Amino acid sequence: MTRSAWYGLKMIMIPDIFKHPTPQQDGAGGRANSWFNDISPLPNSPRRGGEESEYLQYPVIEAIDIEKSYWMGSTVLPVLNGVKIRVEQNEFVAIMGPSGSGKSTLLHILGCLDRPDTGTYHLGGRNVLAATDYELSRIRATQIGFVFQAFNLLPALTVFENVRAPFSYSRINKREARSRVENAVARVGLTHRIHHRPAELSGGELQRAAIARALAIGPKIILADEPTGNLDSKTGFEIMNLFQKLHQEGASIVMISHNHRVAEFAQRVIALMDGRITDK
Ligand SMILES: Nc1ncnc2c1ncn2[C@@H]1O[C@H](COP(=O)(O)OP(=O)(O)O)[C@@H](O)[C@H]1O
Ligand SMILES: [Mg+2]
Repeated sequence: MTRSAWYGLKMIMIPDIFKHPTPQQDGAGGRANSWFNDISPLPNSPRRGGEESEYLQYPVIEAIDIEKSYWMGSTVLPVLNGVKIRVEQNEFVAIMGPSGSGKSTLLHILGCLDRPDTGTYHLGGRNVLAATDYELSRIRATQIGFVFQAFNLLPALTVFENVRAPFSYSRINKREARSRVENAVARVGLTHRIHHRPAELSGGELQRAAIARALAIGPKIILADEPTGNLDSKTGFEIMNLFQKLHQEGASIVMISHNHRVAEFAQRVIALMDGRITDK
């Protein structure tokens, strides 16, 4: 193989994700790679700087013309028909829509759990759709905090161990991880339950633990899918107050709901209808 053919091949093999989208790449050396090694602090953290301040130039989420269909045997079910969504740093956005309108499908795509059929998606300025599955799993573990309706905590683990679990995919040392876990548990007001197991907790406490797990990694974005769906209205209200507090402290949040009263806690509400965003 000639030298130039080898360099050509090498260029093809380097995924876009490693390339910085702006001319700032000049002189960056190996820095683009270090993005995966870094667990970014929360936007309100005093440790902000370096790469973090670069990513602050970009919207946290920018997805354009997202299409997604599911195949049911030989019939195709179109779910997302060209969704466009942009979320700025420190925004709190609610996505509303009737059951079956594609809200969870969209959140899975935004959370890098699934890929769209077509469209573009940049997370903090990075083209994540160009990433390999392995790279996507690292993006999920270090950049995205998930909160689900059914809490999704591991029953055999304590609150501390559940909140620490995502750190097994990162290169943060044990002491630092411990301090981040304790800090996140304190922020959701659960320090007095930190060594309890899920079976010993109320619904509200379970969701607080799940929110602490999402927060602890210092995600670029918190994605919540009907986080109050399994809670009574009083507890749901407390959880929404907690999301509002985290937003005031600097978090960027996208939350799905089909409940108007819940969505009112967000700064901006967008509606998903027939696989499209129908306003804003
Ligand atoms: N993995 C899947 N395979 C086939 N169809 C699916 C799958 N996931 C979701 N769907 C269908 O896609 C549509 C949108 O689902 P979903 O995104 O879960 O809606 P929502 O969260 O708004 O209730 C529904 O009709 C649902 O049945
Ligand atoms: Mg859903």
